[in-house]
Amino acid sequence: DGLNTRAVAAGKQYFGSATDNPELSDTAYLAGLSNTADFGQITPGNSMKWDTIEPSRGTFSYTKGDVIADLAAKNGQLLRCHTLVWYNQLPSWVTNGGFDNSTLISILQNHITNEVTHYKGKCLHWDVVNEALNEDGTYRTNVFYTTIGPAYIPIAFAAAAAADPSAKLYYNDYNIEAAGSKSTAAQNIVKLVKAYGAKIDGVGMQAHLIVGSTGSESVSAWTANMNAFTALGVDVAITELDIRTTTPATAAAVTQQAKDYATVIGGCKAVTRCVGVTIWDYTDKYSWIPSTFSGQGAALPWDENLVKKTEVYNAILNAW
Ligand code: XIL
Repeated sequence: DGLNTRAVAAGKQYFGSATDNPELSDTAYLAGLSNTADFGQITPGNSMKWDTIEPSRGTFSYTKGDVIADLAAKNGQLLRCHTLVWYNQLPSWVTNGGFDNSTLISILQNHITNEVTHYKGKCLHWDVVNEALNEDGTYRTNVFYTTIGPAYIPIAFAAAAAADPSAKLYYNDYNIEAAGSKSTAAQNIVKLVKAYGAKIDGVGMQAHLIVGSTGSESVSAWTANMNAFTALGVDVAITELDIRTTTPATAAAVTQQAKDYATVIGGCKAVTRCVGVTIWDYTDKYSWIPSTFSGQGAALPWDENLVKKTEVYNAILNAW
């Protein structure tokens, strides 16, 4: 019995975790990650991003990504591949290259074709485009948008589909977990990709949440928002779930956090086309939160000593 076992019993494809290469030398950590009762799926937190894969133009480096893909295969875990096109962790040769429209399109297509071909047959999902939107629903100004325009998004999806027709192709973003301008704009991205005649299979809701804030309202708020996506003919997945709080976490915060986790899981459970949930690593020991959000953390179901937080863990378990 475990988090993945329960998710599968509820009709989902997986419950999973992100991971990263440096952590894999921690044997206790690796044993927990490899326990398929809890984790039926893994996502590389960094090692398939552009700066790792193509650090200079035309030079591809798959060593780190392969470690994660091989681990998934060895453990019998599904793999969510993350991510092909993102403004962040993008090498400066792309950002500051001064490329014209047609050159940047070919750079984008070449990157995607090369990487998706390398991992062909191994990725259940690809996060093709990550975080293309501002909070108000307008397009984020990144080098792809300013040089190519919104067409860079369908161009990316078309290239990914051509390289691995069986991978499910996702648009992935944060703050699209509740109805609002950004969620509506993400729905419009689904329509845009389809309008260009390209394939899009799903939308990933990152769900980097805050204890007691957006995302904890109700299961029905989750299902209503998810259904707005599935009505467009795509799947949804919770792709990077963590629920942070001020550290050290109070007992009251942990109790609220357990409720919040249960609300998220309840939302996914209730929507047939919500295919699975991934937490953004499973232990506070390796969470990205404290280094990114000062004074915050304690966001995951295992603590910094790899000890399971019973209240939070059981809330997830029993919400499936
Ligand atoms: C984060 C990683 O977890 C960190 O190790 C890294 O320093 C920065 O990126 N949204 C995403 C993820 O889509 O790729 C980010 O991962 C977290 C926010």
